[in-house]
Amino acid sequence: MTLLQVMPEDDPTRILLRTREPERIATSLADCSVALRHWPLRGSIAAGTTAGDVLARYRPEIDDLCAREGLALVDVAQLHPEPGAEWATRAATARKAFLEEHRHAEDEVRFFAHGTGCFYLHLDARIHAVVCEAGDLLSVPAGTRHWFDMGPRPEFTAIRFFEREDGWVGDFTGDPIAGRFPRLDALLATDATDATDATK
Ligand SMILES: [Fe+2]
Repeated sequence: MTLLQVMPEDDPTRILLRTREPERIATSLADCSVALRHWPLRGSIAAGTTAGDVLARYRPEIDDLCAREGLALVDVAQLHPEPGAEWATRAATARKAFLEEHRHAEDEVRFFAHGTGCFYLHLDARIHAVVCEAGDLLSVPAGTRHWFDMGPRPEFTAIRFFEREDGWVGDFTGDPIAGRFPRLDALLATDATDATDATK
């Protein structure tokens, strides 16, 4: 289930808000100009599901979103667990590539067709950790400082949308902040119940 946990940028141990309520998550993110929407899932996805198949399943939604939001390019990023050390090394390398805070010149738009990943959005002196799951469409506004954790055993299939060929290029802030905040596995492992909303 989609999860939002909000923490002050200077205190990763303090939880201002932790909720799995879809309405509350969407409202809280919308207050920061971040859109979290949902598409109905079109079947299950496994390791053998090709990018072409994934795109074909969601073609009507993709075309509609691209037309409305000026997005021109679409691709599929996916990782599925495999046995063996080679995959583990590949997964660790992929995970590390997105774990440093950065921003982009255009919106970062991702639809999760399968699996899980966590976006950490650095907004208004707070970190909004958004654990996305299958069916979530997240739009991170251009210029938003953020990082992404796919977890220690990455499993996800995400459709990525771009305005331009080089739109995905990251501008790294050099701030080591990401290292201080709980990773995806820690966020999901915690037994913290929904926290009182202290974000107001
Ligand atoms: Fe990014």
